[in-house]
Amino acid sequence: MTDDLREELLDSWEQAAPGWARQAERWAEAVAPVTEAMLSAAGLAPGTRVLELAAGPGDLSRRAAPTVAPTAVLCTDAVRAMVDVARELNEDGGPANIVFQTARLEWIDLPAATVDVILCRFGLMHAVDPETALRECRRVLTPGGRLVLAVQAAAVANRWLTLPLAAAATLGLGAGAPDTPAQGADGGPGPFALAEPGVLEELIGAAGFGEISLWEVPFLWCYRDERDWIGEKLDHSPSFAALWRSLDDAQRSELRRRLRELASAERGGDGSFSVSGRAVLATARA
Ligand SMILES: C[S@@+](CC[C@H](N)C(=O)[O-])C[C@H]1O[C@@H](n2cnc3c(N)ncnc32)[C@H](O)[C@@H]1O
Repeated sequence: MTDDLREELLDSWEQAAPGWARQAERWAEAVAPVTEAMLSAAGLAPGTRVLELAAGPGDLSRRAAPTVAPTAVLCTDAVRAMVDVARELNEDGGPANIVFQTARLEWIDLPAATVDVILCRFGLMHAVDPETALRECRRVLTPGGRLVLAVQAAAVANRWLTLPLAAAATLGLGAGAPDTPAQGADGGPGPFALAEPGVLEELIGAAGFGEISLWEVPFLWCYRDERDWIGEKLDHSPSFAALWRSLDDAQRSELRRRLRELASAERGGDGSFSVSGRAVLATARA
């Protein structure tokens, strides 16, 4: 069952890879405050051996690489198509000292104590078994090595992610329209799986890490209008795309209308939306 769920989730990330490539630039811009906070917590210097896990389009590795050069950053994701996206985006003038390869959070194919810093932005909550993933992180880190994580904070603080789904749900469409096969609300993996206060800290501690520190970082998505917002969701979320494909024109315009209504507080005078997001960051030492 766990293996089936894991394969189902990875299949859905595989499908999502082209959309993540299309949105890569905007995504990097929206979550830049999270990236900057992670890099400053990581304490990188020339020679630091960095492993990025669940890297998706890889902009965090691209930002880290110049600081640690000539040492290479190892940029990994469980999904081959995502690794290809990260590699292709880097081919357009990115740093030369990045090695791209597949790796799963729960089984990192590296010897023990060979990495100084692990970065993982918005990845751990998608692992079926985050506890095992954190033990794997500790195994590959050198003693005293640093773990730097970001996960989504509570749903209520991430309206960029939840409002299109809420709009669909209020129309009786999609039954909550999960963003991935599971949203994490029921204890399974998903965007909010590690958002409850205390959950992440307890998991990190249980994996044997010390000097744990957690804080929150806000960020902002700016959408031209509700079509732009829905377009972003279609690219980032295969299940939202499947729901959208099942709607006729009248239902689609009703969904846009509901989204406009639900998001009225975020609306500017020109019809654009500035929608809040929030991450929980964590650092710890192996
Ligand atoms: C929300 S995206 C975040 C991507 C990237 N870290 C970022 O912040 O742009 C989640 C990423 O986790 C990857 N992923 C999901 N489950 C994974 C696992 N078990 N091991 C490694 N990567 C995984 C997905 O393929 C996807 O690229």
